[in-house]
Amino acid sequence: MNCNITTIPGDGIGPDIVREGCRVLDAIGKKFGHSFAYTEVKAGGCAIDATGDPLPKETLDACVKSDAVLLGAVGGPKWDTLPGAKRPEKALLGLRAGMKVYANLRPALMFPQLAAACPLKAEIVKDGLDILIVRELTGGIYFGDRGRNAAGDAAWDTEAYSKGEIERVVKIGFESAMKRQKKLCVVDKANILETSRLWREVAESMKGKWPQVELSYMYVDNAAMQLVRNPNQFDVIVTSNMFGDILSDEASQITGSIGMLASASLGDSGPGLYEPIHGSAPDIAGKDLANPLATILTCAMMLRFSFGLTKEADAIEKAVESVLDAGWRTGDIAGGSADRAALGDKLVGTRKMGDLVVAAI
Ligand code: IPM
Ligand code: MG
Repeated sequence: MNCNITTIPGDGIGPDIVREGCRVLDAIGKKFGHSFAYTEVKAGGCAIDATGDPLPKETLDACVKSDAVLLGAVGGPKWDTLPGAKRPEKALLGLRAGMKVYANLRPALMFPQLAAACPLKAEIVKDGLDILIVRELTGGIYFGDRGRNAAGDAAWDTEAYSKGEIERVVKIGFESAMKRQKKLCVVDKANILETSRLWREVAESMKGKWPQVELSYMYVDNAAMQLVRNPNQFDVIVTSNMFGDILSDEASQITGSIGMLASASLGDSGPGLYEPIHGSAPDIAGKDLANPLATILTCAMMLRFSFGLTKEADAIEKAVESVLDAGWRTGDIAGGSADRAALGDKLVGTRKMGDLVVAAI
């Protein structure tokens, strides 16, 4: 298979980790007989520096034309004082909307090898932790009307959803649940918000098509609490853009493995957008310290969802597992200072971690 991938290394550690992701894809290509061609483009802070625009037209054009997009991270303190519309984060929203990737799949997976890093009591996660959050990504309050009154002393942001927008992402929720534990929880604020009541109505009207899926509803405040009280009650959560943003950070933190988590953003047709969940970590950029495993696992999601290359995706995931099993760690997953000292030469940098995964493949 020949695949054209647009890469957006972006800012901070983005270039460090995207480089390792591509090396791993190349190793897969070599082993399984595929060819991956890369077109690198700019978005975020580096694009602001180069062109004044966080998402230049050429970038979006290249993304839409390719088979899949791999994004590192955008943003950093250098651009934090810019006004909203000029900030690096604007590139993310522009990419999501421009690529029409309305379903953001964020697995929160605890790696058994890293279980000690989970901040919850061991008895709560004794059976591990594997949740999938499906976040609506191109609607809701992120994209609704916003503004200020003339005096500038009042402001508004609008949450709006159409039946069609809800239906298409809830469908992804049901389909994802079918591939997992067959449990889908719609998280909302239906005791207050009219949009949430529409989410419930739409999900109810759809459930007949997936009779094996156990469908439930939960208010978002309760869901935030349940995630730390008993996270294993969840299998797949489907929710709005804003609630998904908040809950996916919470879920990723309770795995203890934020440097390990991947995500995929998908639309109906056209390329998917793949990025690690973590940010640009500007303090360690270019220092060979970043953990490339989230990006490497993101590449596995790309192979699975965009190219249907299941055994190749499995090969990446198995390689990562074996590297963890052998005790190799980057600083972020190395534990406290005592654990770190005990690691000796198993404490490695970005490059070496990439080498290890390539070798395991
Ligand atoms: C995320 C991030 C973004 C979001 C920011 C950086 C705009 O928090 O991908 O979760 O809110 O969607
Ligand atoms: Mg977020």
